[in-house]
Amino acid sequence: MSPFDSDYKIGVLGGGQLGRMMIQSAIDFNFNVHVLDPDANAPCKTIATSFTHGSLTDFDTVYAFGKDKDVVTIEIENVNTDALKALEREGVSVFPQPELIELIQNKTLQKKFYLENAIPTASFIETANKSEVAQHKDFLPFVNKLATGGYDGRGVQVIRTEQDFAKAFDAPGFVEKLIPFEKEIAVIAARNQNGEVKCYPTVEMVFHPEHNLVEYLFSPAVISIEIEEKAQAIAQNLIEKLGLVGLLAIEMFLTKEGEILVNEIAPRTHNSGHQTIEGNETSQFEQHLRAILNLPLGSTKIKTPAAMINLLGEDGFEGFAKYEGMNQVLGHNGVHVHLYGKKITKPFRKMGHATVTATEAEGLREKVNFVKQHLKIKA
Ligand SMILES: Nc1ncnc2c1ncn2[C@@H]1O[C@H](COP(=O)(O)OP(=O)(O)O)[C@@H](O)[C@H]1O
Ligand SMILES: [Mg+2]
Repeated sequence: MSPFDSDYKIGVLGGGQLGRMMIQSAIDFNFNVHVLDPDANAPCKTIATSFTHGSLTDFDTVYAFGKDKDVVTIEIENVNTDALKALEREGVSVFPQPELIELIQNKTLQKKFYLENAIPTASFIETANKSEVAQHKDFLPFVNKLATGGYDGRGVQVIRTEQDFAKAFDAPGFVEKLIPFEKEIAVIAARNQNGEVKCYPTVEMVFHPEHNLVEYLFSPAVISIEIEEKAQAIAQNLIEKLGLVGLLAIEMFLTKEGEILVNEIAPRTHNSGHQTIEGNETSQFEQHLRAILNLPLGSTKIKTPAAMINLLGEDGFEGFAKYEGMNQVLGHNGVHVHLYGKKITKPFRKMGHATVTATEAEGLREKVNFVKQHLKIKA
């Protein structure tokens, strides 16, 4: 069966903004995208071919959703992988592969995978609970990370001194050396079933000082050709070692000594690839579809330098979202706004993003600042 047949069905676990932008791309190819999400008002609800309201972690729900699909994919890692394995046994294609989702769901397993495969990463010690974290005085300063369940900085705690031990997680995870990095960079790699691999040029992330969310991102990263080549080689090696079919987003630290350390990976479209919609020849969302459908991968070439800004709910506001400054921002050349269809804003909730394009880095910074100053999401 061809994915271009009118009755071919793609199932997506998760109906958030990543799924929504994947559907926007799928429409260009007449692909039918069916979505499962636990939020009855998920961003994909009104645009999916069909929308099923239900749990992503419940075996029966995921199994029943996937049974009549030709291929099932994800936009979030926290899904029931046993159900995905059962679907695979019954002939449904599941990409990324369930056992790889399982590996990546658990940050401790990720770290062990890097060690076993000689992928450079910050040194770490596995810990079972809070009191074990407190035994590692000699390892300070470090970052305590939860093995599972953390995202957007919620499963990460910086421990600088013994006084910080109280902040440690009382659950399985690890402590990892605090890296005084020069930059955080990311590469998105794609691989299809034929084994074709393509990586996007490296981007550079700037994080919010308190909230650990990507505040904005620049494409391409301002790094030397040597560092770029090193980052690309790490990304290619990782996706091939995993044998993953789909997209793999690789977050890395660039140290002051010019070393690259892999921080974490995600087996899906990623916040660090949103600028590919306007900035690259093939968007990450189209590339994900091409990869899981075993189509030729698209060119990842940069068409124009770009910066991406997450549009977060303003602190102190919760309720029906109101967008301030939209006219000023849309009156500015090269500003592209993407809203995610979330009715309710909350402090720091990702409500959308804006990509700005310009021919040089200075122009990008000016436009980023303009958007940040003018566009506010309140209630
Ligand atoms: N070992 C480390 N040293 C310094 N900063 C770190 C370290 N690990 C994580 N961080 C910071 O915390 C952020 C979130 O950590 P990460 O492991 O990527 O978790 P999340 O799943 O929340 O994205 C990173 O992007 C980085 O800014
Ligand atoms: Mg991260």
